[in-house]
Amino acid sequence: MKFNERVFSGMQPTGSLHLGNYLGAMLQWIELQKSHECIYCVVDLHAITVWQEPEELKRSIRQVTAAYIAAGLDPKRSIVFNQSQVSAHAELAWIFNCVARLGWLARMTQFKEKAGKDRENASVGLYAYPNLMAADILAYRATHVPVGDDQKQHLELARDIAQKFNNDFRAPIEKAGYGDGGFFPQPEPVIIGPATRVMSLRDGTKKMSKSDPSDLSRINLTDDADTIARKVQKAKTDPEPLPSEAEGLKGRPEAENLVGIYAALTGATVQSVLSTFGGSQFSSFKKELAEAAVARLAPIADESARLMQDPTEIDRILADGAARARAIAAPIMDEVKDIVGFIRS
Ligand code: TRP
Repeated sequence: MKFNERVFSGMQPTGSLHLGNYLGAMLQWIELQKSHECIYCVVDLHAITVWQEPEELKRSIRQVTAAYIAAGLDPKRSIVFNQSQVSAHAELAWIFNCVARLGWLARMTQFKEKAGKDRENASVGLYAYPNLMAADILAYRATHVPVGDDQKQHLELARDIAQKFNNDFRAPIEKAGYGDGGFFPQPEPVIIGPATRVMSLRDGTKKMSKSDPSDLSRINLTDDADTIARKVQKAKTDPEPLPSEAEGLKGRPEAENLVGIYAALTGATVQSVLSTFGGSQFSSFKKELAEAAVARLAPIADESARLMQDPTEIDRILADGAARARAIAAPIMDEVKDIVGFIRS
């Protein structure tokens, strides 16, 4: 355990999680628990930046929590909770709303994509989303943040906010006994192991996503064995057999994706997969891929389903995680309030 390092990451409870979340993020989260103090958050405040049906939101929060645990996050070792239970997130986000500049947020590509043409009608929360994400991380003074490529820009913004806060409040921060390091750390992205970018099963150039209208485009962590096998069989491919060298995957996004998924699921390298399957037709490779996917994911789906039968137990885990999260964030927020110049009792 490294005492000066703390990991924070989160996922939105919107719809169910899929293979991309599992291979791209959760495996890293699980690995990081071995060496670090980790805080894993179900970011329900972020979810409501776009409309969520209340009953579905509740279900999704529990579903994502169940998936985290079924996949191997240990809620005793790590802190697992939903964001809205710890008020520090919203409080610090407000302060950051007053630190970050409109111009910084205007550059965020995710906002531009999500708001689309109808910007005027997007929620204010969707625009301020990255400030809340900075608050998530910095309320715990977390130093390491496992995130995918699409979140790198938000993490850079969090670093800018941390730096501007440290500069703006330099005098009170020094008075409080912090030297040159400043009050907030500069949180860094972490990518450990071969972080796999999982693409859609219908289009190898698009990321696997829960918002894709076609359910055949993704393997959900709740899919049963038959569904997984059927989706793999139907996955788009090209007519050529598999190449024997990684070079041969260039310009063949679907082939590259399926080989990458197989490698990640079995813990093999892409090259060793191609050494085995080079020259084979997709039909035989897909049988093996379906088997590997089922072997790895069906137990997770079963365990999630089992956990979901006892929502009280899930809520208890979230309450326990929230209490532990609050215990870390509360003294940090007290210092923040002193630094900013608020009076507290
Ligand atoms: N924005 C992240 C996503 O959509 C989720 C998230 C919210 C997050 N707060 C965070 C990730 C803090 C890392 C750290 O994927």
